[in-house]
Amino acid sequence: MTLPKFRKEDVLVEALPYIQEFESKTFVIKYGGAVMEEENLKQMVAQDVTLLRKIGINIIVVHGGGKEITSLSNKLNLKTNFVNGQRYTDDDTIGVVQMVLAGQINKDIVRRINMHGGRAVGVSGIDGNLLGVKKYEKEDLGLVGEIENVNDRFLANLMKDGYLPVIAPVGVDGNGAVYNVNADIAACHIAGAVTSSKLVFMTDVEGIKDGERLMTHLTRSEAQKMIEKGIINGGMIPKVESAFRALDAGVKKVHIIDGRIPHALLLEIFTKEGVGTEIVDE
Ligand SMILES: Nc1ncnc2c1ncn2[C@@H]1O[C@H](COP(=O)(O)OP(=O)(O)OP(=O)(O)O)[C@@H](O)[C@H]1O
Ligand SMILES: [Mg+2]
Repeated sequence: MTLPKFRKEDVLVEALPYIQEFESKTFVIKYGGAVMEEENLKQMVAQDVTLLRKIGINIIVVHGGGKEITSLSNKLNLKTNFVNGQRYTDDDTIGVVQMVLAGQINKDIVRRINMHGGRAVGVSGIDGNLLGVKKYEKEDLGLVGEIENVNDRFLANLMKDGYLPVIAPVGVDGNGAVYNVNADIAACHIAGAVTSSKLVFMTDVEGIKDGERLMTHLTRSEAQKMIEKGIINGGMIPKVESAFRALDAGVKKVHIIDGRIPHALLLEIFTKEGVGTEIVDE
């Protein structure tokens, strides 16, 4: 009989120093890519965040849902317009954004976490004025908001009572108008506001890559150079720029991890090797 490669007790013991280090700290986790789409991965990530919460780490989940917004818009025969690759959110679309993000997706994530006893509570940025925004000004993207303030006390209260907030990234302005907010950017503002120890972006690539090579560790200036050279582009840019902002706000480490790997979150947090890319200050 061959012995298994990893013995359960070794794996648990390897996790102990991390469990000690992270007890009562806060992690913000942004769901994206495969963990939003594949049934088995949805279940696993629900287990993972529940486990983290149960060992005493405060967890906040932030999710997106661009694909589902496009899909419901199509079913309703609403045209989706993109400006430089970014969605233009008109009056009809913002209704769909709310239905999909704050309704369907948010409740689906909450339900899954609660099946494992994770005490998730779903809120949008409208609830408790969680995300105060103004209209994004650099380009006209319609009802797209830029975050001006985060009601961190509301989140702190939920977590103090043992709840796990699951946040849909829509915000509200001073006049009560509702805006769509980029989920990566929302996650970084939230991480900064609650002085999270970690901000984790789960996505559908191995991490930040330079050609074929996975970069496991990047400093801010190295990542900045990769943006300037165009090696980091597209959907990776809001993550990396959000990483910089989060580091400025006192977040210690930002991780970009491959959600397609089963239990990627646990591997990243509880093993020396980790998975994906970590971005730190110099
Ligand atoms: N240097 C790079 N390394 C890795 N991925 C990169 C790089 N530059 C650009 N990308 C792209 O960034 C994408 C990740 O961002 P994307 O917005 O597609 O996913 P997400 O934010 O996880 O999901 P969603 O936007 O649906 O919530 C990768 O699939 C890849 O195509
Ligand atoms: Mg994205």
